[in-house]
Amino acid sequence: MPKLTPVDPATPFPPDFAWGVATAAFQIEGAAIEDGKGESIWDQFCRRPGVIADASDGDIACDHYHRLEADLDLIASLGANAYRFSVSWPRVRPGGSGAWNAKGLDFYDRLVDGLLARGVAPYLTLNHWDLPAELQAQGGWAQRDTVHRFVEYAQGMANRLGDRVAAITTHNEPWVMAVLGHETGVFAPGIKNRAIAAQVSHHLLLSHGLALQALRAQGCPAKLGIVLNLAPVHPASASVADQALARLEDGKLVRWYMDALFKGEYPQDVLADLGDDAPRIAPGDLQTIATPMDFLGVNYYTRVVVSAGQPWDVRSSGREITDMDWEVYPECLTELLLRLHRDYAVPPIYVTENGGAFKDQVVDGRVHDARRTDYIARHIAAVADAMRQGVRMGGYMVWSLLDNFEWASGYDKRFGIVHVDYATQVRTPKDSALWYRDFLRQQKTAQAARETHRPQGAEMTGA
Ligand code: FCB
Repeated sequence: MPKLTPVDPATPFPPDFAWGVATAAFQIEGAAIEDGKGESIWDQFCRRPGVIADASDGDIACDHYHRLEADLDLIASLGANAYRFSVSWPRVRPGGSGAWNAKGLDFYDRLVDGLLARGVAPYLTLNHWDLPAELQAQGGWAQRDTVHRFVEYAQGMANRLGDRVAAITTHNEPWVMAVLGHETGVFAPGIKNRAIAAQVSHHLLLSHGLALQALRAQGCPAKLGIVLNLAPVHPASASVADQALARLEDGKLVRWYMDALFKGEYPQDVLADLGDDAPRIAPGDLQTIATPMDFLGVNYYTRVVVSAGQPWDVRSSGREITDMDWEVYPECLTELLLRLHRDYAVPPIYVTENGGAFKDQVVDGRVHDARRTDYIARHIAAVADAMRQGVRMGGYMVWSLLDNFEWASGYDKRFGIVHVDYATQVRTPKDSALWYRDFLRQQKTAQAARETHRPQGAEMTGA
């Protein structure tokens, strides 16, 4: 295992480490039917009775579309050097194919230029789930044609913004789109069919590989990659049945994506489990999917625990639990990063989302969210731990800049380090935001000190 020689064991982060905050278009923008934006599958899904916990939608959300400049100032005020956002495909190309929408493109131009003017590197995600509804009407991600529409969309955005963004992510969390969107149906488009879900996952991966090839062919200078939701999968007990199930679930969540992207193959145990539900794969697809990437994005919130018998009770672990009923388990982030590093030839990894939902209250203009601060600090320490053990890391981004529309949970679950009062749209940085700002300042100071004291010829990291 390559050894990292840290200059300062407490802060192994290199000077070009991306420290960011993350959001997604549908969760913050609002302006759902404005300036020529088309409908997305999430606009449609929210209208179905009973699917969103508080019966809300993304029509207004954080009204970010109208508050762009102030929100960019907010990002800059935190001292973040990176901002991860997504482009709403139906805002820039309303029907998913055909005409492009100049006003939509202008918005992202202003967003990217506004970040650069503030010294913040733009990290653009193309698909954070809001597929144009018109494409869904033609079969959506289950249709191989959608793959080609996505490549066109990627090319159009790279033409427009590729020279100014630091990175382009093709998809955010393909597992979530495939499984929650098409197998359990709790997310848009709300389909419940395992065979369709498997086909969707294959098409998402294929479109990722084809988009990478197309963007490289057009000379796009941005770093290119994908964002996966990954976690260690642990058995609830040492029983043979629980261990076997944990292995299979690891196959579905981790190896299905990682083996395809980094080895050009799907895991045999998952294919066998799928049986007749396995996707149709054309010759050459897997080689395309395994097109080399510049970075891998990992979203990590908690571990996964599976049980072959009685459902596992999250409260039985004795761990702290967030408002999503997710265990706080930073050690599992280190475990995950080490495993990715050990089992795959991964490019630099970015933690592209990490954070917690907690019940927050504004008291005298402050939000004392000590639990969120603790969550973030411990996960940053977990990243540092992985780095000290040899994992190449490129960045860490908090989910999320703002409280926002948390999909099927609606607005009740607050992940922001900045509080949003939805009645007034007033933003209040929580204590966690102030902590993050101070932490980033300290990082900069420590970095500068290291630069000054670095002996001639010494390297930041040794091989
Ligand atoms: C991830 C999503 C992100 C956010 C967090 C809490 O799965 O990518 O949009 O909802 O969960």
